[in-house]
Amino acid sequence: MNVLVAGGAGFIGSNFINYILSTRDDYLIVNLDKLTYAGNLENLKLCEKNKNYHFVKGDITNNELADYLFKKYEINFVINFAAESHVDRSILGSEVFYRTNVIGTNVLLEAARRYNVKKFLQVSTDEVYGSLGSTGLFTEQTPLSPNSPYSSSKAAADMAALAVHHTYGLPVVITRCSNNYGPFQFPEKLIPLMIINSLNNKKLPVYGDGLYVRDWIYVIDHNKAVELVFEKGRAGEVYNIGASREMKNIDIVKLILNKLGKSEELIEYVKDRPGHDRRYAIDSSKIQNELGWKPKFEFEQAIDSTIDWYLQNKNWWERIISGEYKKYYEVQYGIY
Ligand code: NAD
Ligand code: DAU
Repeated sequence: MNVLVAGGAGFIGSNFINYILSTRDDYLIVNLDKLTYAGNLENLKLCEKNKNYHFVKGDITNNELADYLFKKYEINFVINFAAESHVDRSILGSEVFYRTNVIGTNVLLEAARRYNVKKFLQVSTDEVYGSLGSTGLFTEQTPLSPNSPYSSSKAAADMAALAVHHTYGLPVVITRCSNNYGPFQFPEKLIPLMIINSLNNKKLPVYGDGLYVRDWIYVIDHNKAVELVFEKGRAGEVYNIGASREMKNIDIVKLILNKLGKSEELIEYVKDRPGHDRRYAIDSSKIQNELGWKPKFEFEQAIDSTIDWYLQNKNWWERIISGEYKKYYEVQYGIY
């Protein structure tokens, strides 16, 4: 299988490549990544010398590059992780979200169509469904109702992918997963941000009342589901992925402080995210019943090992937070 993995230097994509190349020898992976602020080749050190791995620095919106790569590497499969992925950044400025997430996905779909790709997996998100009240779960039948520039761009990409399947018969599958956590997650996201600020004795900025709910899944469980849908998912179908682990933000923040032996006085309630979705929760019975997937990691153990990973990989995140991330932090949070 010659697989173009787009966005493989980010959090989930790099965990995917590390996992696949350590467990399979039938994948030749070409990782196409622009190396935006979120892309980091340090995440892929283990793969550098693997003969089944090639890295190409490039933008998924570049038609000519896509054409060149599909031809050169005889690409017959695509997994698209590439995206601008952070909701708060999409609120600060949406243009690059539509460019990468919508136009970029369409460039890959068009190239896949020209080269008769056998499977195209679009990595989507549960945020395309919008927000839940205090009860209920997102199923694959839940109408799309995205609320942020980020989620609306992801919903548009899903529609583009399904349209290419419907119109031209490209074998497209879509995964919609809930909130991931684990190694190599960029410090702008809730869990790494709270771990790193705690370690640095900085304030922990909790949006609004802190009672917003997310449904957490360990990144390896997500990636095993991606592998399964990629290989066995039916063309034209959407598969929700989630580990049924709903948590209020404030409970996660307290848990992290507690595990690191820090005081809850570090918590600071700050201005809410505009248009903040109240609750996400996933019904993953389709992938469980149809493909036999089950999450393996318990939240309590996996959050512990995630905290440990950040403790043991200070160099990785210290380099990030001392660079251009500083500017983003000032704009988003002001200076503490
Ligand atoms: P990330 O921001 O950590 O990584 C995104 C990667 O895409 C980076 O390596 C970046 O350099 C690359 N990229 C961005 N624009 C590009 C472009 N124009 N061309 C080529 N590469 C480009 O994101 P992540 O958290 O790993 O998310 C990966 C995918 O999974 C995204 O599509 C996201 O929408 C989806 N997703 C994320 C989560 C989550 O909790 N993080 C949950 C569900 C779905
Ligand atoms: O649900 C899947 C989505 O999960 C993915 O599609 C996105 O790519 C990913 O970024 C994530 O989106 P969220 O907006 O849910 O994740 P984030 O880590 O930004 O925020 C999680 C919750 O924590 C949310 O309710 C906002 C809150 N939060 C976040 C930050 C960064 C805070 O209270 N304070 C913060 O500083």
